[in-house]
Amino acid sequence: MSAVAIDINRYALLDDAECERRIIAAKQQLGDKVVILGHHYQRDEVYRHADISGDSLKLSRYASESNAKYIVFCGVHFMAEVADILSRPDQISILPDMAAGCSMADMANLVNVDRAWQEMSEVLYPDEQITPVTYINSAADLKAFCGRHGGIVCTSSNAHQVIEWGLARREKILFFPDQHLGRNTAYKMGIPLDEMVVWDFSKPLGGLTPEALKKAKMILWKGFCSVHQMFRPEHIDKFKEKHPETQVISHPECSFEVCQKSDYIGSTEYIVKTIAAAKPGTRWLVGTELNLVNRLNEQFADQHVHFMAPTVCMCSTMFRTDPQHLAWILESLVAGRVINRVSVPEAEAKLAVLALNRMLELPV
Ligand code: 13P
Ligand code: SF4
Repeated sequence: MSAVAIDINRYALLDDAECERRIIAAKQQLGDKVVILGHHYQRDEVYRHADISGDSLKLSRYASESNAKYIVFCGVHFMAEVADILSRPDQISILPDMAAGCSMADMANLVNVDRAWQEMSEVLYPDEQITPVTYINSAADLKAFCGRHGGIVCTSSNAHQVIEWGLARREKILFFPDQHLGRNTAYKMGIPLDEMVVWDFSKPLGGLTPEALKKAKMILWKGFCSVHQMFRPEHIDKFKEKHPETQVISHPECSFEVCQKSDYIGSTEYIVKTIAAAKPGTRWLVGTELNLVNRLNEQFADQHVHFMAPTVCMCSTMFRTDPQHLAWILESLVAGRVINRVSVPEAEAKLAVLALNRMLELPV
């Protein structure tokens, strides 16, 4: 067993209170050499140590502006990759648990996106007619693909402006990996459903006819988030039978049917801000990850915050980052050892940054 593995095994035996004490002490020793970024879906025992918390866009912007030598990203792998791409070469991006991925991001990869682009070229001129848009929930090589093909990255807070940007340049959008964010956003912009098709990457020509592809404005990748797909329109109907005054707020990774029944749709940061600004006594049904909804419930005790699904829907990969991993990473830094560095190969990063900067340059 390697020294590193022995290390984490030792930390796994520590209880949360001991980890808490060690995290605070290590942070104090590291001072401004370290910044901890925490996504809203992180569990409380980790989230409370974040210097900056937010959604993917806010945290990406912060990663591009931070001066800290070590950027410890309590989130998932693609987020730490973005931090590495946007930070200076002398800065180091760290993911406390390397197994913290995103199952939706894994639904598109360079092999099947490259193949789709090739297959589309039998019917269209993709580099002239299609703007590729990748949701930030994707691997760095797909961001590089977008950089190379005149495309762009989006997050759940700016998908509208990004699609507008893409359609101002080319007549169609290939949107991956999340079909729901693409469909919900485009529909809200006035693009009808019959101008959207779903590209099934397991089938030749995405399971589409050449005519359907030619007619489509939005080509949506057949990907989804396993957490947000658990929310159903019937959950909203049932809840509203009892509490008709309820305000429904959902993340745009939820299905079209759920978003159609929602009063507000937006990113995790938008959800937090909207509930924070509401009148005391407001009742909310929230369609997003459980850790965030539980936190909102505690934070805004003068409102009534309810989770949309009857079952527990947690992002199991976000949940992988625990106080034990965070203590391990930070104490290793104090000892002069960097563990779990996320580093995007230079050639890939150079192209990915083009697509990321196109997004970051859009007016806020
Ligand atoms: P936000 O950018 O809204 O935080 O979303 C990230 C995510 O993975 C939601 O599932
Ligand atoms: Fe990925 Fe869904 Fe988890 Fe967000 S909630 S990180 S999209 S698996």
